[in-house]
Amino acid sequence: MKISVIGVGYLGAVHAASMADLGHDVVGLDVDEQRIERLNQGEAPFHEPGFEEILRRGLQAQTLRFTSDYRDVADADVHFLGLGTPQRADGLGADLTYVRAAVDALIEVLSARAGAPTLVVGKSTVPVGTARLLAADLEQLDGVHLMWNPEFLREGFAVQDTLEPDRIVYGVSDPHDEQDPSAGILDEVYAPILERGTPRLVMGLEAAELVKVSANAFLATKISFINAIAELCETAGADVTDVARAIGMDDRIGKKFLRAGVGFGGGCLPKDIRAFIASAEEMGTGHSLAFLREVDAINQRRRDRVVELAQDMLGDLAGRRITVLGASFKPDSDDVRDSPALEIASRLMAAGADVRVTDPQALANAQRRIPGLVTVDDLEDALTGAELVLLLTEWREYRDLDPEHVRSLVAQPRIIDGRGVLDPADWRAAGWEVAALGRP
Ligand code: UGA
Repeated sequence: MKISVIGVGYLGAVHAASMADLGHDVVGLDVDEQRIERLNQGEAPFHEPGFEEILRRGLQAQTLRFTSDYRDVADADVHFLGLGTPQRADGLGADLTYVRAAVDALIEVLSARAGAPTLVVGKSTVPVGTARLLAADLEQLDGVHLMWNPEFLREGFAVQDTLEPDRIVYGVSDPHDEQDPSAGILDEVYAPILERGTPRLVMGLEAAELVKVSANAFLATKISFINAIAELCETAGADVTDVARAIGMDDRIGKKFLRAGVGFGGGCLPKDIRAFIASAEEMGTGHSLAFLREVDAINQRRRDRVVELAQDMLGDLAGRRITVLGASFKPDSDDVRDSPALEIASRLMAAGADVRVTDPQALANAQRRIPGLVTVDDLEDALTGAELVLLLTEWREYRDLDPEHVRSLVAQPRIIDGRGVLDPADWRAAGWEVAALGRP
């Protein structure tokens, strides 16, 4: 099928390349011309395992190309909206400027091909009610239908999550309208995925929008829950990893997303819970999601706690050499948006510490975000001379560090494990002073 993907950020770029990989003829569109140029050259604008491969495969087969010109997407049968919805500068809510601008531009293009059946499929994370408003405008054009089809991909697993999702959600204007051709058209797009028996859930537009934000809010709540228990463990002298392991074995609870530590960051969970709070308040049901403010507060407190621990261990931070392991918000990603590691690093800098940050992938992005940040590519160089080491993003190479060897590099053997991934007994046996969130 002829497909366009409008907005080729993380989600859109992966979606475009994945759709080409399924055999469709795909054009990706973005107003960022530099990004379009890189993509057309087969260069991934972000670190994502497997992405560059399918990108290049699509470009080579000429079933995938990127443009900044809306006229190039005019003849597509299906248009996916993959635009970002960041947090607004003036509050907690989602900024819908990019989505709105794309829909307006699309309406202009589609008006010219009046009558041809066209499906617009929203994938962006939006406040409930957005799709219905967009549908009112788009569906004034003869033959145009809007669906909402949220995306659940995780960074680091984006290609796999797109091509092998655990479920596909179809939001439609009226789930009982038998004449509506939308779901049938999207079935054709996703045919190879659906043939594998992937569950496909059809529901109203509002429910589909809510599925996405509810899923992210639940995941954030689960992380903050275990981090709240970590706070208690610190006072009670218990080990949160023992608590998490034991409660996780109850399959009603499940062991995933119970890793205590510096908490969640990234371009999704933090802004999505805030936008969810704002949208509930706008609807007059703010009380329903009031608990998410606490989820956010617990998450922020874990960052404060690391700074406090550093002060406990070093006293005055001014001039002290601190090495931060990790800059990205999670391993296998170069994304530094709302990264706990970077926020902690910049707070230590503000307290006068001599901070060096290392990361296998994210240093260029980290420098762009925090001007003046001192970054060191080589792990051993970064560790050399440190008076305190902070492990804040659990890249494999940091989890596998040998305490004996690292001790020979640092000036003072002190470490804070902000992700609960080191064995404190091993490190103490090698002469280290160890502090870990939620552990005695
Ligand atoms: C998240 C969701 O997991 C995806 O399903 C969703 O599609 C995506 O947001 C989105 O809305 O686009 P992602 O932001 O890639 O995906 O990251 P996660 O793997 O969810 O991790 C989020 C944060 O939680 C990371 O900072 C991670 O370190 C932290 N985390 C995760 C914990 O602190 N503890 C855990 O047990 C798990």
